Amino acid sequence: MNRVYIKTYGCQMNERDSEAVASQLAARGYRIVRREEEADIVLLNTCSVRDQAEQKAIGKMGYLAKRKRRDPDFIIGFMGCMAQNRGAGLLDRLPDVDLIVGTQRFHHVPDYLDRFREARETGVPVPASIIDLDEETGSQNTIREHLPDRRKVSAFVSIMQGCNMACTFCIVPKTRGSERGRPIDDIVREVEELAARGTREVTLLGQIVTSYGRGEIPPIGGKSPFVQLLERINAIDGIERIRFTSPHPRGFNRDLAEAYRRLPKLCEYVHLPLQSGSDRMLRRMNRPYSRKKYMEIVNELRRNVPDMYFSTDIIVGFPGETEVDFRQTCEVFEEVGYDMAYIFKYSKRSGTPAAEMGDQVPADVKEARNRELLGILEKRSNRRNQELVGTTQEILVEGPARKGPYFTGRTRGNRVAFFEGSERLVGELVTVNVDRATVSSLYGSLALAGVDA
Ligand code: 5AD
Repeated sequence: MNRVYIKTYGCQMNERDSEAVASQLAARGYRIVRREEEADIVLLNTCSVRDQAEQKAIGKMGYLAKRKRRDPDFIIGFMGCMAQNRGAGLLDRLPDVDLIVGTQRFHHVPDYLDRFREARETGVPVPASIIDLDEETGSQNTIREHLPDRRKVSAFVSIMQGCNMACTFCIVPKTRGSERGRPIDDIVREVEELAARGTREVTLLGQIVTSYGRGEIPPIGGKSPFVQLLERINAIDGIERIRFTSPHPRGFNRDLAEAYRRLPKLCEYVHLPLQSGSDRMLRRMNRPYSRKKYMEIVNELRRNVPDMYFSTDIIVGFPGETEVDFRQTCEVFEEVGYDMAYIFKYSKRSGTPAAEMGDQVPADVKEARNRELLGILEKRSNRRNQELVGTTQEILVEGPARKGPYFTGRTRGNRVAFFEGSERLVGELVTVNVDRATVSSLYGSLALAGVDA
């Protein structure tokens, strides 16, 4: 009765939190299973950024609750952002849920599950639902365990939690709390341990990584704490590539742009959330930069690294967004030429200022704007991939592909590549001659070591 299945919704931070919970549960003797049907305990780690994500998790829980009615020993729980956002209110619709654990209390999940297990084993009544949404000082430091026996060529590392900005659309400051960074030495130690176990690429995670350590760690020689952290990680043997997400344009200063030139392991791929290309919309969103300032950052990065790859987040249909505003977003979108983009239709989050704004944009308009940007992205992404045909690319081999005889990995610019390889190459940097490309992937063959392609 100790098999746990964790389903994760939302961002990489959530994936990382789930991984840490899985690792803590495994250390406590629970078994992590890959299929929901095999589990005695199902935990949903949830997302609140858009209503759709919440509805999905609620729908799933409704389905799980049916099984629980047939099988009262089955344990079900919500963790993470929606747990934090909705709390006990979730029980109104889903009274069978056993566990509701917020974003600062993930590491207490093993204790809570033990309580249910003990109650069952000793025959005392099983506790009613456990709800824990407390704030906890230092909780950012608890997300550090990785599953012990699994080599991860590419690993996520949480460096901070929370966000102090007040974007008018965003629920995250409510679900994740205010900014708290982990000490540099702790992060470095975690990355060293990962490297010793075969990790070659790390992605540093936080809701606003450019604010890492601000106010706690003094700048040194004009370098922000975040850049200092990048330098320390760049110096770790065995780590070959560094990525991070998400920065805020406001914290993207010259020291960080220059880090791309100075730090060889920092990959030339940057996720730089734009949200809108209209200054009027940016102001309404309370995003403290202009289109001009954003383009200056892009240009500075391109000056430092000419073949930089760019990714972004865009919200279409923010309240009051007119056709003129949207055209400005399209212009920036074309001008930057994003290689990747996450395009969101604005979703009202109750308790945020934008939810109260007039001029909400109709669903069909949001849909059309969403489709238009996706069209531009597809064209651009395809063009970039076609340009790579005939070149050689450095690929970090992650493992066998799900389908076909291929192995898979990524370029430094984060493009997925497929090629015929072998298990012994997993975790290695290889050179691949790219001979074919689709919108989303590159196909090629290994260049022989020591032979020019
Ligand atoms: N509606 C739509 N998209 C949103 N995002 C954040 N809040 C909302 C919302 N209410 C998007 C932003 C952010 C990304 C993680 O999610 O683009 O950068």
